[in-house]
Amino acid sequence: MPPVTNIEDLRLRARRRIPRAIFDYADRGSYDEATYRANREDLAALKLRQRVMIDVSGRSTASTMLDEPVSMPVAIAPTGLTGLFHADGEIHGCRAAHAFGIPFTLSTMSICSIEDVAGAVDKPFWFQLYVMRDRGFSRSLVERAIAAKCSALVLTLDLQIQGQRHNDIKNGLAVPPKLTVKNALDIATKPRWALEVLRGKRKTFGNLTEAPGAREGLSTLSHWIAGQFDPSLSWKDVEWIRSIWPGKLILKGVLDVEDARIAAGLGASALVVSNHGGRQLDGAPSSISMLPGIADAVGDRIEVLFDGGVRSGQDVVKALALGAKGCMIGKAWLYGLAAGGGAGVTQALEIIRKEMDVTMALTGTRNIAELTPEIIHGPRHGEEVARPTESMRQSLDAQSMAV
Ligand code: GLV
Repeated sequence: MPPVTNIEDLRLRARRRIPRAIFDYADRGSYDEATYRANREDLAALKLRQRVMIDVSGRSTASTMLDEPVSMPVAIAPTGLTGLFHADGEIHGCRAAHAFGIPFTLSTMSICSIEDVAGAVDKPFWFQLYVMRDRGFSRSLVERAIAAKCSALVLTLDLQIQGQRHNDIKNGLAVPPKLTVKNALDIATKPRWALEVLRGKRKTFGNLTEAPGAREGLSTLSHWIAGQFDPSLSWKDVEWIRSIWPGKLILKGVLDVEDARIAAGLGASALVVSNHGGRQLDGAPSSISMLPGIADAVGDRIEVLFDGGVRSGQDVVKALALGAKGCMIGKAWLYGLAAGGGAGVTQALEIIRKEMDVTMALTGTRNIAELTPEIIHGPRHGEEVARPTESMRQSLDAQSMAV
């Protein structure tokens, strides 16, 4: 097999190794996927300034997130169903992130429970909370995170109701995974996954075994979310969360300057500019297009983190230049996990860090503090990127035909 040189290679390996339903759950967005595509397209459309003859020896990607040192300002985002991408996936992901020197976030909808992960790692991780209708159960999740000494609570704001992902329905995504006539052929071609995950001991939502409704089966995720997540959640409830969680709080899923101003006034340590990876409101703007406005409005009051389409070190550099203090990666790390377990996660992180390092060198920057809007091409730096117009293209085609 050719060597893995970028995140896309890990994505393709992941696609070969795990069942279609699980791969698609991570890989795709909601509805027509317009927002999902915009996340990537708008990042790609930003052009970096090539700067030369600047001493770029002694570069470093090290920084801080929430006042803690990190080897690069990238955290592993909370992702649901992770232990189905690889047996004990959350444990592998957390160990790899910690060894790399970056934060790991465990999702409420994880397969390994808070206690499973806490028992397997020696440093604190972040825990992501979904608030259920049963506030007693939500409180118990927070208490479990406190008991596990989690170092931050990530409250997700943008998924009290789930945006529809067509593929999850068409693929019959189920937790625990079910062998059916429809998916038998697919699973038969993924023997290693079947051996490790289907025959492994953790296959369902580890945090939710005592959740209301869990005993009746959690089979379709969207159905369970519709029944259990609390759609009445409002800004008032952040005060409630604050009162039961004594540590650092991160508010994830802010895409609007007005919401960012409210979030910044609530005593949280950070907010995450996010549209949930294009998995929720289809038709929302890309995350990167909203970042500069939000960072300008509240960046002096609250740490501004970013996610949405980050698949490379170049993407991280662009987001940091436009005001993010750090990025979260979801799909990128899951591809690594599915492709190669803990080693695959490390490989994904190495790829991103190397890309960051080279990108910094070629933009004439040596450290994270030097990543400012100055490194992004804009009208103030002369002509933006020259794109051939339609008439230029026609005349070029005509010339090449004449030759
Ligand atoms: C959960 O966070 C999801 O996006 O499925």
